[in-house]
Amino acid sequence: EAFLIVAFLIGYLFGSIPFGLVLTKLAGTQDLRSVGSGNIGATNVLRTGHKGLAAATLISDMLKGTIAVIIAGSFGGPNAAMLAALGAFLGHLFPVWLKFRGGKGVAVYIGVLIGLFWPAAVVFCVLWLTTAVITRYSSLSALVASFVTPIFLWWFGHLALASLFAVLTLLLFYMHRENIKRLLAGTESRIGKK
Ligand code: G3P
Repeated sequence: EAFLIVAFLIGYLFGSIPFGLVLTKLAGTQDLRSVGSGNIGATNVLRTGHKGLAAATLISDMLKGTIAVIIAGSFGGPNAAMLAALGAFLGHLFPVWLKFRGGKGVAVYIGVLIGLFWPAAVVFCVLWLTTAVITRYSSLSALVASFVTPIFLWWFGHLALASLFAVLTLLLFYMHRENIKRLLAGTESRIGKK
């Protein structure tokens, strides 16, 4: 089915736009790759000290996922929307423009969730914020929230979405493998600290 491939490719193209890198380059801050974790996401943009840029990175990395899902859904229906979500997530993690060295997927995970079943995105954000307020770990907050998301979707009877997000969660955990090592070693950096 050609339109499903098109949906995946639209997702990949949107997802592969590295807004963290683009925005910090435009603003002329330090090179993100040599700051903190070296990641291109909003958490690491925050480590440059520019809160506004970090918020802009979070919002644009989210919206690229939401927009890809809405576009694909509007011409191809629910299956196309899910393939666009997968494409956007993989595009963010493995962008061809950055020799496949992309981000860890938290913002785009929320973004595609908004497009596919927004109540689950609300649950994700509540879990993320609760964990972040208690622990100050951005990575742990994402791990907790993304662990619960497929279970929540399954519990709501959205079995196809639960399967899709189980795959995205596995990938998200894999991308956070260095964070997980640091969390276990007690050396992970906390939000608001250098
Ligand atoms: O969004 C990624 C976050 O969970 C961890 O980012 O820069 O602390 O590795 P970072």
